Amino acid sequence: MTQSATPLENATPETPLTPAEIPPPPGRGGLVGKLGKAVRRPGHAVLVLSSMARGQYYRLKYRLLRRKVIIGKNFKVIGKLDIRGPGTVIFGDDCFVICTYIQPTTPWTHHPDAVIRFGNGVGLSGTRLGCRVSITVGNNTGLSDARIMDSDFHDARSNSTDRQNTEGANSPVVIGDNVWLGAGSMILKGVHIGDNAVVGAGSVVATNVPPNAIVFGNPARVIWNNAAPKPTT
Ligand SMILES: CC(C)(COP(=O)(O)OP(=O)(O)OC[C@H]1O[C@@H](n2cnc3c(N)ncnc32)[C@H](O)[C@@H]1OP(=O)(O)O)[C@@H](O)C(=O)NCCC(=O)NCCS
Repeated sequence: MTQSATPLENATPETPLTPAEIPPPPGRGGLVGKLGKAVRRPGHAVLVLSSMARGQYYRLKYRLLRRKVIIGKNFKVIGKLDIRGPGTVIFGDDCFVICTYIQPTTPWTHHPDAVIRFGNGVGLSGTRLGCRVSITVGNNTGLSDARIMDSDFHDARSNSTDRQNTEGANSPVVIGDNVWLGAGSMILKGVHIGDNAVVGAGSVVATNVPPNAIVFGNPARVIWNNAAPKPTT
């Protein structure tokens, strides 16, 4: 008896699969697939389980401390997450933190009305955030060990002899979906970064970044559009 071909075998560029017919990626096919992967890669499974446990630890910790911290589903942490301040910090679903104890991830708020909001699937890796008003990060964005500030914290133009006690300018920061902030980059107050943009390592971003742009340097400038092929010299 011959078996009829599966939708996958029948698929051609002219008759592509419907979304329902697309098979799950290997290793992600439900519980059995996950268990199979865990058996094949026990070290990875231990890492995932411990990061999930640590995510739950931080959820419980900030709840017990009665802090304004909201954490979505599947939160994973490897290393140290240090949330401080009187404001609100919100993580969407599937966010993950990977860093060390020496360089923790620090979403800090500096005003009771300040809000740091991460979308779904955001990755933080030793990222430092200082928020007086609002820092918003879109879905699936990777922040690496960048530094993000929505305030100057001190007034550069004040004649005060006690600058430490002056008020700096504040302006919300908005970072779009699927953005990648390179290592050591710095995002200053008021900056909006468009979806799919890339900020190169070590950049200082003081002005808005359009969607799909690759920017780097100090001050960061648009160098390429990442939807276009890389230019050859
Ligand atoms: C921005 C970036 C993605 C560009 O990568 P790329 O397209 O492969 O670019 P290239 O490495 O070919 O560099 C092209 C030019 O840009 C320069 N350049 C690249 N990145 C730069 C940066 N961050 N700052 C200044 N100049 C940079 C290069 O020196 C080179 O200059 P040249 O043409 O005069 O020789 C990459 O350089 C970068 O900064 N990656 C971030 C990595 C990171 O921080 N990862 C963190 C872990 S998640």
